[in-house]
Amino acid sequence: MFSFFKKKKNVYECLPIKVDFHSHFLPGLDDGAISLDETMTMLKQMHDLGYTHLIMSPHVMGDYYKNTPLMILEKLELVRMEALKQNLNLILDATAEYYLDEWFAEKIEQKQLLPFGDNNILFEISYVNEPRNLFETIFNLQIAGYKPILAHPERYSFYHNRFEIYEELVAKGCQLQINSLSLIGYYGIAERKTAEKLIEKNLVAYLGSDAHKQKHVELLKEVSKTEFFARASQQIQNNILSDKN
Ligand SMILES: [Fe+2]
Repeated sequence: MFSFFKKKKNVYECLPIKVDFHSHFLPGLDDGAISLDETMTMLKQMHDLGYTHLIMSPHVMGDYYKNTPLMILEKLELVRMEALKQNLNLILDATAEYYLDEWFAEKIEQKQLLPFGDNNILFEISYVNEPRNLFETIFNLQIAGYKPILAHPERYSFYHNRFEIYEELVAKGCQLQINSLSLIGYYGIAERKTAEKLIEKNLVAYLGSDAHKQKHVELLKEVSKTEFFARASQQIQNNILSDKN
């Protein structure tokens, strides 16, 4: 039956990508959500924005965030149960955001990582010092059967004027995940410009909120209005479709 009362569209409804590939929503594991209540508030916000699938990625970093796959999966189960109880219709998965340090090297060797999808591993590097073993680590991940994804490449200022590094990373099979908030200049102008250039060059495989708190989720509304968010979403969708063919 025809109705004059159309359902109000949420901001992300028209976009092809409704998956968030990087966030810190799992409670009590890192510098993200502190309590289950805070987690649920943010998950509801993500749902209301139109997201349907969240891949949550707590930090794993040296002696600081010693999250094991088991600890992460236990928290995932807790959050899934709560979402079910509250009738929140979201697909919830978990992985980790590994920091490139000596502990990471050990975990790769022992294959003690928590991948997502097709054995994908999300990892980050220092914002201050360029790691000397970036390409070696990527190679070691691949030898161990993992598919490396570098988190927020636009946030590493030592690469901003060396764009060839990004091209080399992708050429060597390391996929790139940019932060959605970079597209509104949340981390700075240079980060925004770099993220936009990565999209222009079709080097972006994933978009992530990297949300740690409610403010980050609220800012995603602004991100959805940017031209580059729409372009990146479309590219990612096209890449996923071409991978399937
Ligand atoms: Fe993160």
